[in-house]
Amino acid sequence: MTAKAEKTPYRVPAEELDRQREYAGLVRTILTSVYEPSEPLAFVHTYGCQGNVADGERIKGILASLGYGFTDDVEKASLILYNTCAIREHAEDRIYGNVGAVKRLKRENPNLIIALCGCMMQQPRVAEKIRASYPFVDMVFGTHVIHKIPELFYRRLTTGKRVFEIPDSDGVIAEDLPVRRDGSVKGWLPVMYGCNNFCSYCIVPYVRGRERSREPEDILREARELVAGGYKDITLLGQNVNSYGKNLDRDVDFAKLLRAVNDIDGDFIIRFMTSHPKDCTPELLDAMADCRKVARHLHLPFQSGSDRVLKAMNRGYTAEKYLSLIDYARSVMPELSITSDVIVGFPGETYEEFKDTLSLIERVRFTSLYTFIFSPRPGTAAAKMEDPVSREEKGRWFKELTDLQERIAGERTAAMKGREYRVLCEGYAREGVLNGRTSGNVMIEFPEPAGRDITGGFCTVRVTEPLTWIVRGELV
Ligand code: SAH
Ligand code: SF4
Ligand code: F3S
Repeated sequence: MTAKAEKTPYRVPAEELDRQREYAGLVRTILTSVYEPSEPLAFVHTYGCQGNVADGERIKGILASLGYGFTDDVEKASLILYNTCAIREHAEDRIYGNVGAVKRLKRENPNLIIALCGCMMQQPRVAEKIRASYPFVDMVFGTHVIHKIPELFYRRLTTGKRVFEIPDSDGVIAEDLPVRRDGSVKGWLPVMYGCNNFCSYCIVPYVRGRERSREPEDILREARELVAGGYKDITLLGQNVNSYGKNLDRDVDFAKLLRAVNDIDGDFIIRFMTSHPKDCTPELLDAMADCRKVARHLHLPFQSGSDRVLKAMNRGYTAEKYLSLIDYARSVMPELSITSDVIVGFPGETYEEFKDTLSLIERVRFTSLYTFIFSPRPGTAAAKMEDPVSREEKGRWFKELTDLQERIAGERTAAMKGREYRVLCEGYAREGVLNGRTSGNVMIEFPEPAGRDITGGFCTVRVTEPLTWIVRGELV
């Protein structure tokens, strides 16, 4: 083994990527002969987190290299591909529903290819169910074989057989895949993949493999490309970005990476997600504070305010540790906007413990919260725990929590009234009204200026009308 291979055990070798490019050429020839003079169209829909969206952009890049164009209309598609999510039961139910709904199209057009990929497919029980009960699905592939899409399509087109490719793997890193990005202002930039944390409720470590970091050179190259391409809002992605660099045998960590991205020339804003409180260090918060381009926004999921529940969740911190991090972050960045994720009704959680979650929310006063009712994921530790509280009861707790957060969010946006913010104008909310985000990630809407296109650039907006979750304003 070479020294390079030792340092980056996950990297897909260049020869393999060359082989896939050859397959892409073969597939293109086949598709051209079938669809000439037009091009086959792909309908691709991604569910789930930004990491999955970033995968979807690479999947679309590869499909374009196979000769596909793209459509938002399933009726016009020669390929329907769902890039799925498994985080909660509801996410999976939606996919089954959508797949059932496209069966009709397959009957009308036998050449149509229906394909499923992503986290949900990485679970053997799901792949088996698709194999047995959804015979009209042509292709199923997991999260570790995106770079092999050309070969999988070649197999499907030349054998006519269904393709199931879901290797169990610690995961790979495939650099230099083509990317077809969804937006032109905001860009996703994965810095690491996988998760080693095994929070007891979570399916991600099972479907995404072990933590592995991209080489900093690869990340910085992609960041420079984004900046050169006019992207103004770059989000560094990982399930736990604070683990960045741990598997690289080099002097690099997430704080250093953040500083290096910040040093790239150009006017742009840097965001990142997600940070895990157990690995969130003062060094990282200091790096944020030092870096002018890094947004004054920290997404730091706390999940629960009860130490007993946090322990049962295997989160590796206490409510006190979380609060001390928040205090430190605010001491170095007084304007910091903090958002979080929280789970209501973890197995065995009592109402008293739930009230600890409410107290933590009161104490931190988050800008916004992503709130979830616990959903058992087969194969995880929490799915086997006693869960005596009824769904209705959890629903009442959930409402109590969202009411509290609504009040806090309303008070926070009310305090923005009359103040001016630097805003990246992302596009139109509706005719005549632009929207964008503050550095703290609050959505802001404002009337467009006459005779000037300011989308994709920074501007200053004064808040005139705070609503609860967004604010309205006017250009300064
Ligand atoms: N890596 C991120 C979270 C990714 S999943 C982190 O650790 O913060 C996004 C959110 O979904 C989690 O923060 C959690 O709040 C929620 N979630 C994950 N599994 C869940 C489950 N089984 N039931 C309910 N919510 C869940
Ligand atoms: Fe899931 Fe925990 Fe990993 Fe986040 S850190 S992806 S919640 S296991
Ligand atoms: Fe869903 Fe997979 Fe992301 S389970 S939340 S798409 S990592």
